[in-house]
Amino acid sequence: MAVDSLGRPLRDLRISVTDRCNFRCTYCMPKEVFGRDFAFLDRAELLSFEEIAHLAQLFVREGVTKIRLTGGEPLLRRDLERLVAMLARIRGVQDIALTTNGALLTREKAFALREAGVNRITVSLDSLDDAVFRRMNDVNFPVARVLAAIDAAAEAGLTPVKIDVVVKRSENDGDIVEMAHRFRGTGHIVRFIEYMDVGNTNGWRMEDVVPAREIAGSIGAHWPIEPVEANYFGEVAERWRYLDGAGEIGIISSVTQPFCGSCTRARLSADGKLYLCLFAGTGHDLRGLLRGGADDETIAAAIRGRWHSRDDRYSEIRAEATPIEKVEMSHIGG
Ligand code: GTP
Ligand code: 5AD
Ligand code: SF4
Ligand code: SF4
Repeated sequence: MAVDSLGRPLRDLRISVTDRCNFRCTYCMPKEVFGRDFAFLDRAELLSFEEIAHLAQLFVREGVTKIRLTGGEPLLRRDLERLVAMLARIRGVQDIALTTNGALLTREKAFALREAGVNRITVSLDSLDDAVFRRMNDVNFPVARVLAAIDAAAEAGLTPVKIDVVVKRSENDGDIVEMAHRFRGTGHIVRFIEYMDVGNTNGWRMEDVVPAREIAGSIGAHWPIEPVEANYFGEVAERWRYLDGAGEIGIISSVTQPFCGSCTRARLSADGKLYLCLFAGTGHDLRGLLRGGADDETIAAAIRGRWHSRDDRYSEIRAEATPIEKVEMSHIGG
């Protein structure tokens, strides 16, 4: 098992299958930066499904048991279920999850993904207020279609469906209670995420962060909640359950209570670079090795070696506010 320099095992692999997205969420891919002229990766630069599955297999050899497909928007990659089926065939993979904005998650797609081997889906939805949501996704996408995607995921048995809400002060913090209300008793798990300073482009300011404690406080004031133990070592979300039995919510406090100490996540970008942290400035080129004809042991050794020397804990040292050149989140995957 690969363990890094801070004793953290390699467990999760987050694979970004494309750096493109059909949304322009202001906190992730602001239009001023990700406009017409933005240089997205060319097709030839993207890893093929075969290449992704090949690398994934080597990560599994080094300890990965859980795979999450992200982007950009992963469903922009046509026939994503074909990749899922390839990943599901790798011995040692216990969990295959997908994070999507839901725009392309039809019923058929949800069933096809499930059939291919996806166990769980997380759908991003920042507000139930149509005007607020359209403003945040910045492509005028309506709430109703994301709700339909959540239903599709549930019908396909991809339960519990998680619904991720990035909370930004003065934009959607007024919708927290409504969000909780809407999904109480449905079996879905809403997770509120502190707005983070990912990438270099979203103009992040600490004042825009709504602290986890405040989020828990406003929900708890309506329906009493109590903390629940993590499902597994390194779970990112703090779990809370409603005392009246209406289910649970999650809060992801990456800014105010960082969780680097148990971070078991490696990230593979769409162009085949290995990133050891969401906030890493540079990645390690695995595509070059693969396309250069390196054998499996050489590539596995590169993964192992990088993980061994890993000392990233950006969120914990964020307080020191060292300016670092970071990669964009849409490039390496949330
Ligand atoms: P489960 O597998 O269901 O537990 O989901 P997960 O915790 O892997 O959650 P997901 O991948 O959906 O992450 C939710 C959000 O948490 C992401 O979109 C990020 O905003 C944030 N997040 C996830 N991983 C990290 C991380 O390693 N560091 C930081 N700082 N934030 C993270
Ligand atoms: N802060 C927190 N989470 C973010 N995401 C993207 N940008 C940010 C940010 N600045 C996450 C959200 C979204 C997923 C695709 O990426 O969880 O739902
Ligand atoms: Fe796209 Fe998700 Fe980023 Fe929004 S947060 S721009 S949906 S990748
Ligand atoms: Fe892991 Fe980096 Fe996030 Fe810390 S900041 S939890 S090390 S990805």
